[in-house]
Amino acid sequence: MSHLSNDKAKLAIIGAGKMGEAIIAGLLKSEKYKPRDIQIFEIIENRRKYVSQTYKVTSAKSIGDAASFADITIIAVKPGDMKRALEEIGQVIKKGKIVVSIAAGVTLEFLRKYLPKDVSVFRVMPNMACMAREAMIVISPSENTAKEKLELVTSTLSLLGRAIVLDEKYLNLATGLVGSGPAYIYLIIEALADAGVRLGLPKDISIILAAQTTLGAAKMVTETGEHPAKLKDMVTTPAGTTIEGLLALEEGKLRAVIMNAVTKAAERARQLQPT
Ligand SMILES: NC(=O)c1ccc[n+]([C@@H]2O[C@H](COP(=O)([O-])OP(=O)(O)OC[C@H]3O[C@@H](n4cnc5c(N)ncnc54)[C@H](OP(=O)(O)O)[C@@H]3O)[C@@H](O)[C@H]2O)c1
Repeated sequence: MSHLSNDKAKLAIIGAGKMGEAIIAGLLKSEKYKPRDIQIFEIIENRRKYVSQTYKVTSAKSIGDAASFADITIIAVKPGDMKRALEEIGQVIKKGKIVVSIAAGVTLEFLRKYLPKDVSVFRVMPNMACMAREAMIVISPSENTAKEKLELVTSTLSLLGRAIVLDEKYLNLATGLVGSGPAYIYLIIEALADAGVRLGLPKDISIILAAQTTLGAAKMVTETGEHPAKLKDMVTTPAGTTIEGLLALEEGKLRAVIMNAVTKAAERARQLQPT
């Protein structure tokens, strides 16, 4: 990787679907990346045209071309398409390169089966907030990964949000929370906004009030480092308005419902492992 400048790795995105696009959009938004630093390989013609024209990135003619161009090849195809993509990549990827899979449920052991030993392999779980550069990204390197390779992957993905390194045993669990979590929060934002509309607020205003309140609450947790229970306590006064609302949430078993949702999604991630 002698041509690496300012720690910036050239990237190939194999599968420019929703997640592939979110990664490209976030990296370009960071301004550290320019379209010339990224190539895509995508099998659906319409999708290939849309992504290459929208983001001005090169559409490679083959997986081999994309993987030769890149320092880091990110595989962003669905779990069921992983085997085919890996078989192709395994045949063309060169020594010293990095392969990152973001496929839910696909283990490092499975990835390793198709890739040469001298390639660094990572299993990563991001979420769609890559597009807004506020993703949560969990990174698991395979055993014996060189420190500089881990640093390069972590610094690259950190451009898309907050990246942490975790042992692979946590990855399916993180999928239930990190990968699927935005959908749960959208549902909550939608419900908050609907409540505003029910009370008479204009729809567009209600959505902004709900979304900004959610963003502010999340930032309070990340910026103060306080336990959410303590922050909740700070906005709950005796005989006040919030405690009334909290009672309704407890009666509706909101916590149990959310815990169940994450557990179900994590179980599903485990089932997605291709054979
Ligand atoms: N969406 C999320 O929120 C999210 C979050 C975290 C992780 N992920 C993971 O990210 C991966 C992609 O998810 P997605 O939601 O972006 O799916 P998607 O929108 O279906 O994107 C996958 C794209 O890759 C194409 N493709 C399939 N096989 C290919 C190959 N061999 N070479 C090149 N392109 C190929 C697909 O075409 P076809 O439609 O013809 O197959 C599709 O256009 C999944 O493994 C998922 O588990 C997703």
